[in-house]
Amino acid sequence: MLRTIAAVLVAAAGTLAISGRLTAAGDALPRETLLREFSGAYPAEALPTGRVVQVDLEAAPAMVDIGTGRPLAVWAYNGSVPVPTTIHWHGMRVPNPMDGVPGVTQAPVEPGKTFVYEFTPKDAGTFWFHPHLRSSEQVERGLYGVVVVEDRNPSPYSRDLVWVLDDWLLTGDGRIQEPFNTRHDLAHDGRWGNLVTVSGRALPTEQVRPGERIRVRLVNAANGRVFAPDLSRFEGHAIAFDGMIASAPLPLVGLELAPGNRVDLDLIVPASAAGRDIVVVDRFTRSSIPLVTLAVGTDAVVTPDFASLARGMVPEWTGADALAPDLEIALAARAGGPYGIEWTLNDRVMRHEDAGAHDHGDDYHLERARFAKVRFVNASSRLHPMHVHGLFFKVLARDGRPLDERHWRDTVLVRPRETVDIGLVPLDIGRWMLHCHILEHAESGMMTLIDVGS
Ligand code: C2O
Ligand code: CU
Repeated sequence: MLRTIAAVLVAAAGTLAISGRLTAAGDALPRETLLREFSGAYPAEALPTGRVVQVDLEAAPAMVDIGTGRPLAVWAYNGSVPVPTTIHWHGMRVPNPMDGVPGVTQAPVEPGKTFVYEFTPKDAGTFWFHPHLRSSEQVERGLYGVVVVEDRNPSPYSRDLVWVLDDWLLTGDGRIQEPFNTRHDLAHDGRWGNLVTVSGRALPTEQVRPGERIRVRLVNAANGRVFAPDLSRFEGHAIAFDGMIASAPLPLVGLELAPGNRVDLDLIVPASAAGRDIVVVDRFTRSSIPLVTLAVGTDAVVTPDFASLARGMVPEWTGADALAPDLEIALAARAGGPYGIEWTLNDRVMRHEDAGAHDHGDDYHLERARFAKVRFVNASSRLHPMHVHGLFFKVLARDGRPLDERHWRDTVLVRPRETVDIGLVPLDIGRWMLHCHILEHAESGMMTLIDVGS
């Protein structure tokens, strides 16, 4: 069900060619500086290795063992096709027609039909994919997977692990609870489950040895749950966020993954743990939830010695404080819509089910290769992990307080009543989604489009 795919190799080492599109007058100076800082941050074009990876994905019902002692009926990729669907490549910078948004970049793929997604990844790192149609149900039933785009020259880690964090809302007799998109889910932070799994298993065990240096790729594939894994028993750092290498090693304490987020860890199993178990627990909520057990052997290995990968190029963008936001987006709810409550962006809703294509007139517009500042104003008392397709952004400020996170993101958690400013430079032309990644919020309307023009 949870397929791991090693996709086409790309080294993220290209330089960015920006076509001198600098604005005159007014705020020309700060924008020019901000754009110059961005130059070279991530490659404008892919650097193909020539290796092509072809993967056939079929969406179908399946029975899986998630470690509860009884089989669970899910929907999974590969077997007959149950529903119209699409695939969105979360975080991957792909050409707009490959982005998997129904009614915007393609028609839904009907049962029995196929659609070919073909692209060259521009960035090496940890990504995932999932449907973009009725995703609150399709993702919850298990339709998603992970894409690891390998580094051109992989570092000699002792092992490279993928831990996909998810939760399931199960009935007493072990089935996926229906219905979906309940009033309760809508009025809260989406659908939170009663069983947490890591890569499709409840509390799996990983055998490791003292001294091992492990790259762990964390992916939050839950509809609504936020994870804050406690990694305090390890030495090491986080080295990448949302697929992109950070500009400096990030502390292991305080890491938070909202739905959609990924974090790559560079962990060392301490010698002092020899012969013992390390249980990684989630501490986002008041009840700590065990996620995974590392059973540490007694026979130690020499820790591989190599420089941290965390030396990516991420601009500071301190001058951005002076700029007024190019877009300001209010996050709120109101009564109405098919579920009784609908989540809005600037008082508007967007639904993939709405007949016909989405009206261009409702799009926001940003210019290609120009620095833009976007402000999210959370007028509600719920969580909203805001996600933008097709680009990476940097958090500039929370509640007006400037911040230097030292990493890119494609999804940022906006807390109750909080205001978050992000900075970005769109590089790829097309209509790109901006939406809340709490899938029930998105399903009820909390989505919109940014049209990046030339
Ligand atoms: Cu994972 Cu439109 O998102
Ligand atoms: Cu939301």
